[in-house]
Amino acid sequence: MLGLVAAALILVTFLVRLVKFATTDGDFTLTSRGPPKREQVEGKVVWITGASRGIGEILANQFTNLGAKVILSARNTAELERVKSEIISKYPTSSVEVLPLDLASGEESLREAVQKAESLFSSAGVDFMIHNAAFERPKRKALDESEEGTRATMDINVLGTITITRLLAPYMLKRGRGHFVVMSSAAGKCPAPGQALYSASKHALNGYFHTLRSELCHKGIKVTVVCPGPIETSKTSETNSSREGRSLEKRVPSERCAELTIVAATHGLKEAWISYQPVLFVMYMVQYMPTIGYWFMDRIGAKRLDAAASKKSTYSWSLMFGSKKSE
Ligand SMILES: NC(=O)c1ccc[n+]([C@@H]2O[C@H](COP(=O)([O-])OP(=O)(O)OC[C@H]3O[C@@H](n4cnc5c(N)ncnc54)[C@H](OP(=O)(O)O)[C@@H]3O)[C@@H](O)[C@H]2O)c1
Repeated sequence: MLGLVAAALILVTFLVRLVKFATTDGDFTLTSRGPPKREQVEGKVVWITGASRGIGEILANQFTNLGAKVILSARNTAELERVKSEIISKYPTSSVEVLPLDLASGEESLREAVQKAESLFSSAGVDFMIHNAAFERPKRKALDESEEGTRATMDINVLGTITITRLLAPYMLKRGRGHFVVMSSAAGKCPAPGQALYSASKHALNGYFHTLRSELCHKGIKVTVVCPGPIETSKTSETNSSREGRSLEKRVPSERCAELTIVAATHGLKEAWISYQPVLFVMYMVQYMPTIGYWFMDRIGAKRLDAAASKKSTYSWSLMFGSKKSE
């Protein structure tokens, strides 16, 4: 009898965990943490690239709400000013500065941007560098990508981001503290059929920043690599796929993505995954059972290219278990 009760308890626990995994929006470690720790960011200087729209704009709002002083960067100055004035109207006592920059503009121009960022707020210096800006080309086959497209992706997503880091880190090292938060992607952990360049650029960031942390963590430098799957932003609601495709795609709202990003950073996580299923499931498989994970991805590859071409969902379970294959 006792054995039966124990077996029933184990089964119930297993089922509860299964349901939780099926409905969660982040990896186990991330979702087991509490809310963002305000004390970690209050009064700190947070520099956010890609802050003119999307996840970056929401991050700027949420960091401000937690009492941080924020620096907003991107190329479009008018949009940055809009974000700034919207933040100030919501949080009248907030400290917000606009610092336009182009990540593809080369080392000298990025050096000036770093010096400027360091000099803002009475030369307080940057505490958190949120590397959020990125360039993503429309989905296409890896072999259809041009040299020009390759350079554009790598210049912004990889070279510009690394250059800012290399120029900013010495200031942080002098102060004995600093935190790089890097918006990577599920495409930085798994193959992403139709997004070969984007995936390559995000894998590069993961490699660089995890290595950087291993070299500098004992000198007060922290690194958090965030890997979101599909996120609902104004861009995706307007353009990414047909209405039919969007209704099949379950995307994590950008507000929740920003919140979990700040949870990951303020709880000192080294890496965090933010996604609904099935992307989260695939990430776990590729990370912990790569032979099976890559087998899944090989089943998906051609079908995902077809789905992208016909503007259907590129994130649904049917790609894994459906039968239609591309020629
Ligand atoms: N949305 C998703 O589903 C998703 C999923 C996984 C990962 N992510 C990652 O999350 C981050 C934010 O995504 P998002 O969807 O919010 O992006 P988004 O809406 O496309 O915004 C990209 C941001 O980057 C800026 N940017 C682009 N090129 C730049 C350049 N050369 N120099 C400086 N800034 C530049 C853009 O501003 P300007 O055009 O004004 O320069 C914009 O503010 C990205 O790193 C992305 O890869 C997003």
